[in-house]
Amino acid sequence: MNVLETKNVNYRYPDGTPALEDVNFSAAQGKMVALLGPNGAGKSTLFLHFNGILRPSAGTVMVENVPLTYDKKSIMKVRQKVGIVFQNPDDQLFAPTVEEDVAFGPLNVGLDQDEVERRVAESLERVGMAGFEKKPPHHLSGGQKKRVAIAGILAMSPEIMVLDEPTSGLDPKGASRILHLLHKLNQEGMTIVISTHDVDLVPLYASQVYIISEGHIIKEGTPQDVFSDEETIRNANLRLPRIAHLMEILQKKDELPFEKPYPLTIGEARKKLLKEFDE
Ligand SMILES: Nc1ncnc2c1ncn2[C@@H]1O[C@H](COP(=O)(O)OP(=O)(O)OP(=O)(O)O)[C@@H](O)[C@H]1O
Ligand SMILES: [Mg+2]
Repeated sequence: MNVLETKNVNYRYPDGTPALEDVNFSAAQGKMVALLGPNGAGKSTLFLHFNGILRPSAGTVMVENVPLTYDKKSIMKVRQKVGIVFQNPDDQLFAPTVEEDVAFGPLNVGLDQDEVERRVAESLERVGMAGFEKKPPHHLSGGQKKRVAIAGILAMSPEIMVLDEPTSGLDPKGASRILHLLHKLNQEGMTIVISTHDVDLVPLYASQVYIISEGHIIKEGTPQDVFSDEETIRNANLRLPRIAHLMEILQKKDELPFEKPYPLTIGEARKKLLKEFDE
């Protein structure tokens, strides 16, 4: 079942900028889906439709097969199902301390104090920010803010978690920790949707990939499907994962026998190389 879906969604900003055109996007239950696209392609605009922050100029957004309606009560309900971590944590964090910020959502839906405290502690622990409870969010570094913003959504236990560039601004260890966490949440049953430019990470984590360019979805499929279309990837100002690019060079320039589909991860490349050397 698709738990999140857009049907022919168009969106034009009030100043007339056309940001989305006929976007059909879906995320099946329990999957991890990546939206890839260059700057200004429409990733954040699309994500803001998923819990009703933006309303399509035309087309429909469906959550668990029900079209969104935009009255206050329905929107409140949908926001408990679909949690969105904004691209810029400054758009999200507002409370005087980290713990109050993370507690805000759970308190707002009426959970009791003990449960709220448990969720705050667990969420901060999971993003690696335990120990920062009393700090004001504006005294944190960019990467730390990002992690607290993720904890704030995690504390709501949404069924679907949408993260707009969750690894941007994080150091390699921080990025890998967040991706491991998302992978784990996904294995526990949460549907995860992320946007990113980081093509190297996509094949490691995502089972379904969409490419958006100038407000249009121009490609969708498994990482293998999507990255075997180098032309579309490059036309969208993206690139192949480094490993696939190396294999492409070895095949095309050095005439080594690496046929397409190229391996996309270190693990796949290692297998392929060992096999070549064995023969
Ligand atoms: N509030 C706004 N008013 C008018 N135009 C906007 C507004 N926000 C975004 N846009 C325009 O809409 C288009 C899509 O922007 P969006 O922020 O969705 O891109 P993005 O794919 O998230 O880019 P990035 O990778 O830089 O985050 C761009 O052309 C942008 O200039
Ligand atoms: Mg964006």
